[in-house]
Amino acid sequence: MKRLLDELVEKNRYLAKKGKVADYIPALKKANPEDLGICVIDMKEKIYTSGEYRTKFTIQSISKTISLMLAIMDNGAEEVFKRVGMEPTGDAFNSMYKLEIEGISKPLNPMINAGAIVVTSLIKGKNSKEKFARLLNLFRKITCNERLDLNEEVYISEKRTGHKNRAMAYLLKDMGVLKGDVEEVLDVYFKQCSIEVDCIDIANIGLFLANRGKVLKTGEVVTTDHIARIIKTFMVTCGMYNSSGEFAIRVGIPAKSGVAGGIMASVPHRMGIGIYGPALDEKGNSVAGYGLIEDLSRKLNLSIF
Ligand code: DON
Repeated sequence: MKRLLDELVEKNRYLAKKGKVADYIPALKKANPEDLGICVIDMKEKIYTSGEYRTKFTIQSISKTISLMLAIMDNGAEEVFKRVGMEPTGDAFNSMYKLEIEGISKPLNPMINAGAIVVTSLIKGKNSKEKFARLLNLFRKITCNERLDLNEEVYISEKRTGHKNRAMAYLLKDMGVLKGDVEEVLDVYFKQCSIEVDCIDIANIGLFLANRGKVLKTGEVVTTDHIARIIKTFMVTCGMYNSSGEFAIRVGIPAKSGVAGGIMASVPHRMGIGIYGPALDEKGNSVAGYGLIEDLSRKLNLSIF
């Protein structure tokens, strides 16, 4: 496996040249576009790594999977899906276009920014500090990494420049979908996106979902099989934004990407995969990471379809 990963990392490195590091959040510009790393953890807890798998990056949209999990655990699926839908959009991850269409009364799914902001507003806690602490604690449990924390620089950078998210949140408040104080909700959202991870951490998230909501290392049942299944299904239908259809055909693995360059993937009953490659394609997915996971899926026959 190690040899295969080394081979595939080197084969796909050149793809990074076709992409661009995200710059709409100024602090993300500092990433090295040529980095490419991977970690695979199987059900026997064997860890295989290659490339820049130790490089730290912010989790960004990958956090939307676990915030959804917590919101469902806190409120039940029925309550959550009264405020956010279950359908892919075909639009960019930060689009607010559909929110203005007649007959659409809530964000289409929890993986686009509008939906994720609503989901975050549903996390229980007496204030934003407690809400984020609960979410961070959950991430620490799932990754078995007590030191997981937020990257202050990215958090401040996004909080200062996240005008579109702010606009969207106020529109959602006006629509009556988002409850509570808008700035407090956004604060939790910006913090959750700024949690700093490496490929091992996100492979552990994938493994946890592959193991149906139970942390393999500690044996702790964090969530139900049913909730873990909801999350993995959203990863298939919406996890790679408006590339999700093509990704399902080319790769066939539940996966979630983030604008810092991470891809978290979960092969049910088999393994968790964490990939980092900060050069992105026009849809916001890691270009080299996409190539790498496509090759890996073919070589190991990982497609769930
Ligand atoms: O809200 C944002 O724009 C970022 N914090 C997260 C977006 C993201 O990761 C989209 N991913 N491709």
